[in-house]
Amino acid sequence: MSFRLVRAVPALLLTASAFAQDPAPEVSAVAEPAPAAVAELTDPHAQAAPGDAAAGANKAAVCAACHGMDGNSADPQYPKLAGQHEAYIARHLALFKAGERVNAIMLGFAAGLSAQDMRDLGAFYASKATLPGTADDAPIADPASPNVGKPFYEVGQTLYRGGDAARGIPACLACHGPAGHGIPGPSYPSLAGQHAQYTADMLRRYRGGEVHGRGDNASPIMASVAAQLTDEEIEALATFIEGLHAAPATAAAGN
Ligand code: HEC
Ligand code: HEC
Repeated sequence: MSFRLVRAVPALLLTASAFAQDPAPEVSAVAEPAPAAVAELTDPHAQAAPGDAAAGANKAAVCAACHGMDGNSADPQYPKLAGQHEAYIARHLALFKAGERVNAIMLGFAAGLSAQDMRDLGAFYASKATLPGTADDAPIADPASPNVGKPFYEVGQTLYRGGDAARGIPACLACHGPAGHGIPGPSYPSLAGQHAQYTADMLRRYRGGEVHGRGDNASPIMASVAAQLTDEEIEALATFIEGLHAAPATAAAGN
């Protein structure tokens, strides 16, 4: 794929040459000088202008096959986007387009999007409610596990709320909130209600060192958060997070 060949060059050059290979998508042609604006969206501190949810609804038709009409995907290998923060969605679409989050499917769907499209799609999904998931309360059966007999979600809940200081694992709620709603903005995604299969896949990839974004725009924190997690803890966290919708929104901040 051509973007791989130019990955080693500086970010600005990369963006410019990646865009030069784009077949000039109709949507972005009208809007704005898309290359610079899309690159700006990869900044986790960017304060992007709000998108238009109604415009985003039309642009999301092509996404529905995998992510569902309202962002609640039926197939657990595709993440739910409903209720996700607008700026996080816009940032990750920009990262896919730039090849700074590598996924062949999403590269294809992000390649033709302008920065305005990304914001509008973000606004559309952010306006939708996450459909509830269910946490697994089956007891852990593995006799070799230190958690044998405890329900899966409970092991996840303990780590989510308290971390494990002795092993250098921070409490997830510090950044993702007590009810898993994250912090509005591009950086801290909402997790609540997400398919456990997708969450577990992400946690294994972070544990393996996956980082999204490059240079100053990189978000390396999850690679260190996940470094010490066992497979069992990843499954437990993922199922607890899928069930998190039911948790009351306690914090004053509303997360
Ligand atoms: C053919 C299936 C498919 C279609 C169609 C599709 N996606 Fe995706 N999308 C995926 C997959 C698979 C992932 C997970 C990528 C990964 O594992 O890193 C994903 C991930 C995402 C993410 C990251 C979510 C997160 O929580 O980090 C966003 C945002 C997203 N897609 C938006 C869109 C938008 C907007 C469209 C339409 C323009 C779209 N997708 C169309 C399959 C699809
Ligand atoms: C210090 C802040 C911080 C802590 C603590 C933290 N996270 Fe994260 N998390 C982030 C950031 C930042 C991202 C976005 C990374 C990116 O853009 O790739 C993220 C992303 C994620 C994602 C991907 C969401 C998606 O939609 O793709 C999952 C899953 C996740 N975190 C789970 C956890 C779990 C489980 C814990 C506790 C063990 C945890 N996080 C602790 C900051 C944090």
